[in-house]
Amino acid sequence: MRVALFGATGGVGAALLDLLAENEGVGAIYAGSRSSVIAERPKITPFQFDITREETIADAAACMSGGGPLDLVLVTTGVLHEGSMQPEKTWRDFSADSFVHAFAVNATGPALIAKHMLPLLARDRKAVFAALSARVGSIEDNRLGGWASYRASKAALHQIVRTCAIELARQRKQAICVALHPGTVDTDLSKPFQRGVAVEKLFTPAYSAERLLSVIDGLTPADSGNAFAWDGARIPF
Ligand SMILES: NC(=O)c1ccc[n+]([C@@H]2O[C@H](COP(=O)([O-])OP(=O)(O)OC[C@H]3O[C@@H](n4cnc5c(N)ncnc54)[C@H](OP(=O)(O)O)[C@@H]3O)[C@@H](O)[C@H]2O)c1
Repeated sequence: MRVALFGATGGVGAALLDLLAENEGVGAIYAGSRSSVIAERPKITPFQFDITREETIADAAACMSGGGPLDLVLVTTGVLHEGSMQPEKTWRDFSADSFVHAFAVNATGPALIAKHMLPLLARDRKAVFAALSARVGSIEDNRLGGWASYRASKAALHQIVRTCAIELARQRKQAICVALHPGTVDTDLSKPFQRGVAVEKLFTPAYSAERLLSVIDGLTPADSGNAFAWDGARIPF
C-alpha cells in the first residue's frame, strides 16, 4: 500500500504517520509538513508544502507520480486559531481576515490537494482520499452557534468532498472520497478549548489515529462523498 499524508507534523497527522509506518501492509509513505522536515525513516519520503501555495502541492504530486498509484491520500491539516485568528463567540467578532484564512487552510487547501492527488489514486482497487474535518462543520448539527469561520470552512470542505466524490466515481469505481471527524483530540488545535471536555471524551492522538484508520478500512464506494466520525457514524452535512 502506498500512502500520501499532508500534515504529518500535526497532532493527529503525526500519530497517523507513526501507525502507518509500523503497518506491514504499508510499503511507502510520502509525509508532508509545512514547518519542520520529517526525519527520513524506512518507508518514509518527507516533503514540504504549504497548503496555501498551490505550487508546493503540485511539486509534491509531481514527485509522487513517478512512484506508482496511491492507495490512500490523507489530509490532516487544519486551522482553528493562529495568531490573531481566534474562533468567534459572536458575530461581533467576525473579521474578513479570519474567514479568508480559515477558508484558505480548511477548504481551498484540501480542494487543491484533491486536484493534484485524485488523479494519482489507483484505478484497479480500493483507493481512498480522506480529509480531516470536524463535526462542528455540520450545519444540521449546529445547535450551539459560535466558531462561524471554522464551521463555515469545514462545511465548505464537506461540499468539496461531495463534489469531488461524484466526479471521481465516473473515473474510478472503487475510489472513495470522504471527510473524517477525529473526535476531540488532545492537540495544539484543541488545547485552548479543552476546559469542560470530559476526560473520557478527550482522545489521545494515537487513539484517534487508530480509530480513523479503522474507519477508512471499513469504507466502501457507497460511502464516498460523505463525512464520518472516529466511531464510523455518518455525520449529517
Ligand atoms: N484536535 C481536535 O480536537 C479536532 C477536532 C475536530 C477536528 N479536528 C481536525 O483535525 C485536523 C487535525 O487537527 P490537529 O488537532 O492534529 O491540529 P494540529 O495539531 O494543530 O495540526 C494542524 C496541522 O495543520 C498544518 N497546517 C496548518 N496550516 C498549514 C499550512 N498553511 N500549510 C501546511 N500545513 C498547515 C500544521 O502544520 P505545522 O505542523 O507546520 O504547524 C499541522 O500539521 C484538522 O483538520 C482539525 O480541524 C481536530
